[in-house]
Amino acid sequence: MNREQVLEKLRHLQDPVYGISMVELNMIKDVMVKESGVALSVLLSSDDEERKKELRRDITEALRQEGAADVHIRFRAMSDYEKEEASKKRNAAGQEPQPAKATPTDLLGAQSRTTFIAIASGKGGVGKSTVAVNLAVALARKGKKVGIIDADIYGFSVPDMMGIEDRPQIVDQLIQPIERFGVKVMSMGFFVQDNAPVIWRGPMLGKMLRNFFGEVEWGGLDYMVLDLPPGTGDVALDVHQMIPQSKEIIVTTPHATAAFVAARAGAMAVHTNHDIIGIVENMAYYACGQCGHKDYVFGRGGGAKLAEELHTQLLAQIPLGAPDNHPAEPDYSPSVYKAETETGQMYLEVAEAVIRSCE
Ligand SMILES: Nc1ncnc2c1ncn2[C@@H]1O[C@H](COP(=O)(O)OP(=O)(O)OP(=O)(O)O)[C@@H](O)[C@H]1O
Ligand SMILES: [Mg+2]
Repeated sequence: MNREQVLEKLRHLQDPVYGISMVELNMIKDVMVKESGVALSVLLSSDDEERKKELRRDITEALRQEGAADVHIRFRAMSDYEKEEASKKRNAAGQEPQPAKATPTDLLGAQSRTTFIAIASGKGGVGKSTVAVNLAVALARKGKKVGIIDADIYGFSVPDMMGIEDRPQIVDQLIQPIERFGVKVMSMGFFVQDNAPVIWRGPMLGKMLRNFFGEVEWGGLDYMVLDLPPGTGDVALDVHQMIPQSKEIIVTTPHATAAFVAARAGAMAVHTNHDIIGIVENMAYYACGQCGHKDYVFGRGGGAKLAEELHTQLLAQIPLGAPDNHPAEPDYSPSVYKAETETGQMYLEVAEAVIRSCE
């Protein structure tokens, strides 16, 4: 090995302050190659013991691979002159200094590659949150990076439905979402003591929602599922306007009047230019555990009729039946269907349809 080969081997080392190669910055000096091995000096842009250890390990490893038996490294701080020279080199390379404070991933920005899916309904209690949670988990089971925002500020339920007892930590002034079943979760429920009622009014709600996007470290996400509050009220409208590129899934029960009310949520989606991916008909029937006979206890055909009316597809007909989960299980959650159950499979199929329609 000669000096040039040594430098070539170390070219991948980036300096954290200047953001370009340490070799480029002339921070590897006094390279001596002898029979017994390699000796060199390394300039340091900051006084950081961890960084020294890391560099010693990386350099030794890289040069040993090339057959250097002994690697001797001396560290020294950069002089003011050397810092000035390094800054010039960085500017010539067109690099800005690294920002010191962490900045959240901008999910709503123009660069964002996250697909938003709002789960809406015309009225309450039809299973929006259940569908939102299980769709998010199914997308994660399909290998996608997924987040869920419980946008039902007053009626939050997602943490309980997923069996979450932890509270988010704050690191570098950013809230870290809780991860459960591979899904990153954010909910008003995390910030409320002992199930106290939330008593904010209009403007605060929008602000809270905005914080859920801006002050939370989501990382890169493929999908963000939004569990909307029931109906077509302020918050639902806020979400529609805040995320103009969002797509929607509308949940209804099979009864004709439920589908009629759900059509209003559909109209709101159309009004705000949101694509409707499809309809989920929840509580579609009761299947007898013994003989498998289907009883259409809440009526029949509401989902198909709504799909036709909104010119979209019927994604699934989910039967009645709570997940058969037990509090003693290590990953207990009251509302997440296991992947291998019949309903769990149906949600995987919904996830596949969503992926097909979005990618
Ligand atoms: N397929 C189903 N079979 C049995 N129970 C269900 C089913 N889907 C939802 N549920 C139950 O029905 C209730 C309402 O469901 P969920 O909370 O998901 O509805 P929602 O539309 O989000 O309600 P809200 O409008 O209050 O937010 C919950 O207790 C839930 O566990
Ligand atoms: Mg709900």
